Amino acid sequence: MTTNDHPKKYYLSILILMGIAILALIFFVSKTLINQKHGAPASNPKDKLNIVSNTTQKQTKHAGIYLVTEKAKAADKDVAYTIQFPKTPNKAFNQNVTDSVDKMRDDYLINQMTTDTKGKKSKLTISTKMIIYKKNYYSFVLTQTLNKKRKCVKTFMYDYKNKKVVLLQDIIQTKQNLGVLSRTVKGEIMSDCLIKQHRDAASVANITRPIWGNYQEFALTKNAFIIYYNPGELSKNITGIKKYVIPLTSTTNAILAPPFKKKQPAKKIALTFDDGPSNTVTPKVLRILRKHHAKATFFMLGQQVHKYPNVAKKVYADGHEIGSHSYSHPDLRTLPIKKVKRQINQTNAEIKKATGCMPFALRPPYGAYNKRIQAQSSQPIVLWTVDTLDWKYLNSKKLLSQVKKDVYPGAIVLMHDIHLSTAQGLDAVLTYLEKRGYTFVTVPELHS
Ligand code: NI
Repeated sequence: MTTNDHPKKYYLSILILMGIAILALIFFVSKTLINQKHGAPASNPKDKLNIVSNTTQKQTKHAGIYLVTEKAKAADKDVAYTIQFPKTPNKAFNQNVTDSVDKMRDDYLINQMTTDTKGKKSKLTISTKMIIYKKNYYSFVLTQTLNKKRKCVKTFMYDYKNKKVVLLQDIIQTKQNLGVLSRTVKGEIMSDCLIKQHRDAASVANITRPIWGNYQEFALTKNAFIIYYNPGELSKNITGIKKYVIPLTSTTNAILAPPFKKKQPAKKIALTFDDGPSNTVTPKVLRILRKHHAKATFFMLGQQVHKYPNVAKKVYADGHEIGSHSYSHPDLRTLPIKKVKRQINQTNAEIKKATGCMPFALRPPYGAYNKRIQAQSSQPIVLWTVDTLDWKYLNSKKLLSQVKKDVYPGAIVLMHDIHLSTAQGLDAVLTYLEKRGYTFVTVPELHS
């Protein structure tokens, strides 16, 4: 009995064990497949690093659109991140966003795990900026910052009304239109003196070629296309993120598909600021210009650039144009030619030293010049057509009423970035002009 019974029990337990093994195998395989489908790596770096995270979700002032923030710290390593990204009612849109964000975070974590950081604290930040066009189109610009250095930019666009993803192909539709955008962007990039300096015309030509893949990172603002480039894309020597603002003028507005087209293409205007840079007022002016995606032209004094080279550098880095306004603001007509030369050359040298670029033009103090002075300047002379008299009134409210009185499309407006009242009145001026369909460009762009 025992001899007969034993093999039966033996086979039964083998069968049970095999069953368990098969079930385990099915479970393991399906789990791996699910993971792969969601793009997660087989071993999650989040689990390996023992990350403690906290996710919050905040409704924006636009119904159904949320900003999700994930804050996290690793318990046993000097690793931390704060990640912010948008969430909409559209699943495909959200999937695109989270795939990108997950990849950025996992790349960071894997890098932290595999390199010896010698106890150095490190932090990853992904921040989200929301830009609205025509009340229905939302551009989200995600900027990845690693240890306070901006590393990468990624954009997503969402159609709020139809609840769907918007691609550049939806906006400009044809290859022919893409050609127009490509030429405009290329012109804009080539007028950037930093690009000229690096002499990377070949890499610019390549990255601006009219193929859709070259224009993935973009946003649409009230008055312009913004095209973003990640570090190294324009030139291997450019290590920061670059953005170029392409105003929606009659040419660029014409390539937009009907729902995106502006009724009235933008009217261009050039704001100019003289006598700076100032270490107190200029940064305030820059902040307001940034808020309105406005570009301006700064005619700087050599002696101010000498005092505040970092402010001059910041002006240039923000994408504004820089001109010369002489070294110490004399009436150049009253000086002997030798001194005129010195005023011009010293200023050129200070601006070149601070920004890496030569001023594009000379605006003589008081607008006072003659043929003798003109002959000394290798740059063209640029004056203004609308004077706000901001230096005289020193009144932030008066700035707007002066602009209202005289402004017209194509105007070159004179202001000074050394008076606090000008910085204080600027936001109202830009808001007013924006509502009337103006877009703010640099002087060289005015006629392009
Ligand atoms: Ni002046």
